[in-house]
Amino acid sequence: MRTLDDLDVKGRRVLVRADLNVPLDGETITDDGRIRASVPTIKALLDGGAKVVVCAHLGRPKGQVNPKYSLKPVARRLGELLGQDVAFAADVVGDSARSTVESLQDGQVALLENLRYEPGEESKDDAARGAFAEQLAGLAELYVGDGFGAVHRKHASVYDVPKLLPHAAGGLIVAEVEVLKKLTEDLERPYVVVLGGAKVSDKLGVIANLLTKVDRLLIGGGMAYTFLKAQGHEVGGSLLQEDQLDQVRGFLEEAAKRGVELVLPVDVLAATTFAADAEHEAVEATAIPADREGLDIGPRTRELFAAKLADARTVFWNGPMGVFEFDAFSGGTRAVAEALIAADAFTVVGGGDSAAAVRKLELPEDGFSHISTGGGASLEYLEGKTLPGLAALEE
Ligand code: 3PG
Ligand code: MG
Repeated sequence: MRTLDDLDVKGRRVLVRADLNVPLDGETITDDGRIRASVPTIKALLDGGAKVVVCAHLGRPKGQVNPKYSLKPVARRLGELLGQDVAFAADVVGDSARSTVESLQDGQVALLENLRYEPGEESKDDAARGAFAEQLAGLAELYVGDGFGAVHRKHASVYDVPKLLPHAAGGLIVAEVEVLKKLTEDLERPYVVVLGGAKVSDKLGVIANLLTKVDRLLIGGGMAYTFLKAQGHEVGGSLLQEDQLDQVRGFLEEAAKRGVELVLPVDVLAATTFAADAEHEAVEATAIPADREGLDIGPRTRELFAAKLADARTVFWNGPMGVFEFDAFSGGTRAVAEALIAADAFTVVGGGDSAAAVRKLELPEDGFSHISTGGGASLEYLEGKTLPGLAALEE
């Protein structure tokens, strides 16, 4: 993969595909982790005398202009972090984008409006995607792929534009791939993976593949209830994916056959309703009352998971253990994060909600070997899939 060192950027217009998909509360950015992670590459290009045109998506506006998903607040924050103005184009490839890009001087930067306002960006039709990619590529002379969180998407800005312009991988993608390689080649054992999050259906591929690689797999979060149910326990009103029960039974059998320790919650915090102030108590995972729903792993499970992480040499963690957005149900996620910090291991937090949780719970980011910016992208890499955005950069 070519890197920034292989590009001569001085005086050239460089299109950077970044992942600036940050959570917003109105116009307030609630976690700027992805913006901060994007700064070094943009800064390196600016220092190299490039005219930098950043493009990115925010949320899922599905091909339509929708002010709720505007990147405008991101442009402001990016400017603060760079310590210089970021010109903001009010469209993606229209008049505003063209004139904004044309007025850039060497060492100046612009951000285009949300790529996903354009139906071509995500189109499944190669021709439609290609046509939009041509317009986007027309804004620049060189392309730098640095939006790690989106490399698993076969989208115009990720997959098609690098076919049209001389290209290289930015520093963030290089760093993320290096970490993922360490998780897949010559890793130190015990290798323990912790998975959480709401839906087991999002993680079928990665679980199947991890069962051939890991020593232990700890399962918490909403997806744990489908495992408990598959073992024959009632889960009350907890999250449950009935249609995944057969699949999950298969995983339980496969783990047993392979000697992989698959560790499930032994107790959960069962609440009367899904709310921050819901009445709740710790109950056995095998005896969740019918009128309650599990919103976090319980205290005995926190200890159990910490013990299973204590001697690990390599850890990958993706997905919260409970509804960490509610303080009362953030303890399980905190306990797992603290166990990673305590372990004498190469520890990777796999993007998305788990990375947001680390910051929301104000845990020290340097307590982990790496906090990824890409949830879905990390999972698909560990699943062994070819990621379109990485493949395009390698060509
Ligand atoms: C993410 O948030 O996972 C990435 O930015 C990709 O976004 P997407 O899941 O909407 O494609
Ligand atoms: Mg995601």
